[in-house]
Amino acid sequence: MSQRLKGKVAIVTGASSGVGRAISLRYAEEGAYVVCADLNPLSLSAEGESVGATHDMINMNGGRSISVEVDVGDSQSVQDMIQVAVKEFGRVDVMCNNAGIALEAKSPRPLGIWETPDEQFDQTIQVNLRGVFLGCKYSGAQMINQKPHPSGDRGWIINTASILGLVGSYGTSSYSAAKGGVVNLTRTAALDFAPHRIHCNAICPGYTDTAMIANLSKENLGKISLMQPFNGLGNPDDIASVAVFLASDDAKWVTGISMAVDGGYTC
Ligand code: NAI
Repeated sequence: MSQRLKGKVAIVTGASSGVGRAISLRYAEEGAYVVCADLNPLSLSAEGESVGATHDMINMNGGRSISVEVDVGDSQSVQDMIQVAVKEFGRVDVMCNNAGIALEAKSPRPLGIWETPDEQFDQTIQVNLRGVFLGCKYSGAQMINQKPHPSGDRGWIINTASILGLVGSYGTSSYSAAKGGVVNLTRTAALDFAPHRIHCNAICPGYTDTAMIANLSKENLGKISLMQPFNGLGNPDDIASVAVFLASDDAKWVTGISMAVDGGYTC
């Protein structure tokens, strides 16, 4: 591996599963110290197997990494997560706000906005939008107050949005509202952070093969796969590759973008 993130301290939320797990492993392979944060924290062995409990020191692909518990929608919990990273590694260079939920994907049929429960909307906004706001806010405050990275930049924030933050989709009003919010929050945060040389970008994955979409029917998955110019579903590693780029010095002139990584779905 090229060690493109050598020595950077990275926090990844939603690190125990799917996309976040793939990003954590790739960051460690690229030489970062990784804080793997999740509501259900896991420790990962060098082979990527789950081996232990919260706060265990873990050795992931040769990198030095820890696992912490966080609820991204809870302000105090997010602040505690940042403090754990600073106590352990001295700084935060990369904040990957990736944790998310898709309550719609658990529904037996798509619900029109008129029949969507209020609580579903509130819970989705709490995790998928407020969670990203809190992650940007408290990691950004830490980055502003720390010495710049040797590259001259102070930090790299990467938010996981979705193609459903770029286009509409039947029966996903709460999820789409939250992800559209993440896309525009990313633009505005990039402007706020630019004077401090902090990058803020988003990734918009298309349908990706993780636990999040495991409940979708075979029929639905078949239709989705056919709608993608590159047939099939994305793989978590496809998203992790872009998350590595956006956390690296190669993205020196990149901020405020929301990059679709979707096999051409939004073409
Ligand atoms: P996943 O369900 O496999 O993983 C999500 C992780 O987030 C889980 O480990 C879960 O414990 C954690 N999490 C949930 N609520 C949390 C909270 N309040 N605080 C901390 N951690 C919490 O899902 P996947 O697919 O890996 O999703 C990752 C991100 O990618 C999400 O933001 C999702 O919306 C986004 N995404 C996923 C797509 C897909 O097709 N899988 C498509 C587009 C976007």
